[in-house]
Amino acid sequence: MDTVRYQPRNLLITGGCGFIGSNFIRMLLQNFQDSLPEIRICNLDKLTYAGNPENLIEIESNHRYQMIQGDITDSTLVKHVLKDQQIDTVINFAAESHVDRSILDSTPFVQTNINGTQVLLDAARRENVKCFLQVSTDEVYGSLGDEGFFTEETPLAPNSPYSASKAAADLLVRSYCHTFDFPAIITRCSNNYGPYQFPEKLLPLFIANAQRDQSLPVYGDGKNIRDWIHVSDHCRGILAALQMGRAGEVYNFGGCCELQNIRLTELLLEILDKPKSLITYVEDRPGHDRRYAIDCSKAERELGWEPEVDFEFGLRETVAWYLSNQEWIDHVCSGEYREYYNRQYRQDS
Ligand code: NAD
Ligand code: TYD
Repeated sequence: MDTVRYQPRNLLITGGCGFIGSNFIRMLLQNFQDSLPEIRICNLDKLTYAGNPENLIEIESNHRYQMIQGDITDSTLVKHVLKDQQIDTVINFAAESHVDRSILDSTPFVQTNINGTQVLLDAARRENVKCFLQVSTDEVYGSLGDEGFFTEETPLAPNSPYSASKAAADLLVRSYCHTFDFPAIITRCSNNYGPYQFPEKLLPLFIANAQRDQSLPVYGDGKNIRDWIHVSDHCRGILAALQMGRAGEVYNFGGCCELQNIRLTELLLEILDKPKSLITYVEDRPGHDRRYAIDCSKAERELGWEPEVDFEFGLRETVAWYLSNQEWIDHVCSGEYREYYNRQYRQDS
């Protein structure tokens, strides 16, 4: 394993009010105060339906933290933020992140995920940012059959408008490294679970529905496989890639925890002590990827990183978090989300 080769100081985090970004900021400011004593964080977030400043309420008054509401596609704003805050490091979490929404309308996915990344790259290059980390996904690799794992060498074959927009962004990052010697790193992670995830994604959606004795809409035959990783393991991986990764490289992260959706749903119902009769099979997602599985041996070897949270322990803890944060769920499930839910699950409602 390498030793730390890079210490971020003035960090721009985009999309820091979302699920993973808010967990990352909390981790830096609460768990890494001693090893990163100089760090200052500027969080640039548009506050879409998925962005919620409440996710960071306990660090709002931390003098190392500030939030700016704004869009990563706004090149004037991004340029000013980089200059004014003397940013040396950018971590780009900001994205439209939900596959089902990308099937309903891919426009915001192209705008934020592709155009937004391009704006950030150009501004960061002009301002001589020292490190740019692009937070990406295993979904850019497409779908696996029964055997095998995604490695960093697996060809990109995205299947949804979401994953296509993420792959396009990754290719832009790659091209800036190649053409301009731009110091960027790409990380690709599997499905995250944990606190503060917007309840449109499988786990928080099913927890919220089961709690209200509403049906759990399982797509297709329920045998699609995802590899689940606790968000804290992903966040540690991103920090490890930033501090120990090599510019121009890609690092995969996974939880070594493959599960069929139906098995996960049953496990959840067991934990919640709810009946299996809540499970409802609904029409499959168009183009639904069958299986994701990650080979993270490069991250283990080069970053000294491996997932630490035991899945069943993490799942129980996550369920407990959602159960004791009902107000948070009620709040984020208001307005726009209700309209989306009725549209997406009308066959089920
Ligand atoms: P999320 O949807 O919870 O949060 C996205 C955040 O980005 C929100 O706060 C939103 O307001 C903000 N945002 C959206 N458009 C913006 C714009 N134009 N300008 C500024 N801010 C904007 O997403 P997440 O699950 O936290 O995912 C974060 C990143 O990690 C994404 O890039 C996603 O592709 C990637 N990723 C997610 C997972 C997962 O399982 N959730 C797995 C691998 C990779
Ligand atoms: P999701 O959380 O949307 O993540 P992703 O599509 O990025 O992997 O979905 C996880 C899995 O759960 C995926 O195979 C689709 C499935 N799924 C359902 O069966 N029902 C649902 O209502 C949702 C949201 C997802």
